[in-house]
Amino acid sequence: MTVERTIRALVAVEGLDSLDVQRAMPDDPSFQLLGMTDGVDETVRTLQTRDVDVLLVACAGTEDDRSLQIIDSAHRAAPSVPIIVLSTSSPNGFLRRAFEAGASDMALYPQTKDQLRFVMSKAIARTTRAGEMNGARGEARLICVLGPKGGTGKTLTSCNLAVALALTSARVLIIDLDLQFGDVALCLGVPPEKTMYDLALSGGSLDHDKLADYVMKHDTGVDVLLAPARPDQASAITIELLRDVLTIARGHYDFIIADTPPGFTAEVISTIDASSDLVMVGTLDSLSLKNTKLGLETLQLMDYDESKIQLVLNRADTRVGISHHDVVAVLGREPNIFIPSDREIPRAVNEGVPITLSRPQSYAAASFHELAALFTDDAPVTEPVAVGSTSSGRKGLFRLRRK
Ligand SMILES: Nc1ncnc2c1ncn2[C@@H]1O[C@H](COP(=O)(O)OP(=O)(O)O)[C@@H](O)[C@H]1O
Ligand SMILES: [Mg+2]
Repeated sequence: MTVERTIRALVAVEGLDSLDVQRAMPDDPSFQLLGMTDGVDETVRTLQTRDVDVLLVACAGTEDDRSLQIIDSAHRAAPSVPIIVLSTSSPNGFLRRAFEAGASDMALYPQTKDQLRFVMSKAIARTTRAGEMNGARGEARLICVLGPKGGTGKTLTSCNLAVALALTSARVLIIDLDLQFGDVALCLGVPPEKTMYDLALSGGSLDHDKLADYVMKHDTGVDVLLAPARPDQASAITIELLRDVLTIARGHYDFIIADTPPGFTAEVISTIDASSDLVMVGTLDSLSLKNTKLGLETLQLMDYDESKIQLVLNRADTRVGISHHDVVAVLGREPNIFIPSDREIPRAVNEGVPITLSRPQSYAAASFHELAALFTDDAPVTEPVAVGSTSSGRKGLFRLRRK
């Protein structure tokens, strides 16, 4: 058991009922609410006169919100105090502007008292130990697969990356963090006999044996910790549980792959924080590219090391009319991996057999092996293996070569 030190928090409320927000705050003795402020001036004054560990800005998350002004002024007045945005929604644009203004973290409101406390402890720990995150890691590499929107191929990438890594004899755990609509079970064809929800309900402390009881086994040896079967069960999965799972799993696997829902939810942010690597998946259309760019910028604002972010461009066929040059111009960098559109992919998803297994000779499978090789330090793949029977020929596909 770690002894938690007292957190002295200030809460600025903008556009929400301040009594409701106050009631939502932790009420244990190790939490001290220094005050509730309204507007920029009062917040800045309080920050300058009191000893504040963390500032929460509770707001509705709309883009024109005065909360952005509060964040900006508070950050200027007290740059060492971490600012957590507690927002009833998290539209992409708002989150980005909040990070730009100086926010260090965000959590959705409402939130359980425990989760709130955890988000605050994390933000404080991050400030005091800035730059030390890597040192706390155990053995496994934690690869968090992200994408700004649904349908870009995150789950496809997570599952095939997990299989490709397992085929190199690595010990792999895949965790489905799309807690409401997770479909890793379908993609891998694993029966959802036990899920994270059962683990959450099991009570007691978590150790490796217990975790092993709640993971499903895929034929390739990949262990799978499934998302709850129903959306209403998602709220049972706390950030603490997730943190414990990751801590324990790190000592027993070579790789942990986290599949995520679109956007930066609290689970996703804490997994990004704990991760050693990120895979950002975007597709080749202008809207998705714009959102991918926003996602990359958000990671930059979170101070994520850019060299640890692998960029995957899915459905990377040139016939959509966007050139390689356009892609690099929009994203500001070269994608690392290109995955072709392939009609075998939806078929593989429907059959619950990842394309790395169902069509091992396809370009798509080769792309996933190439992605895995970025993490295993295998000899770089310079040319995809033999072209199989897939619908996507070599023509029309973006460069598959690695630089
Ligand atoms: N390269 C591709 N070629 C053909 N179909 C694809 C490709 N990438 C994804 N899909 C299809 O798009 C759907 C969404 O992919 P998925 O991985 O579930 O996205 P996400 O997890 O980002 O929401 C899946 O049904 C999948 O079959
Ligand atoms: Mg998905």
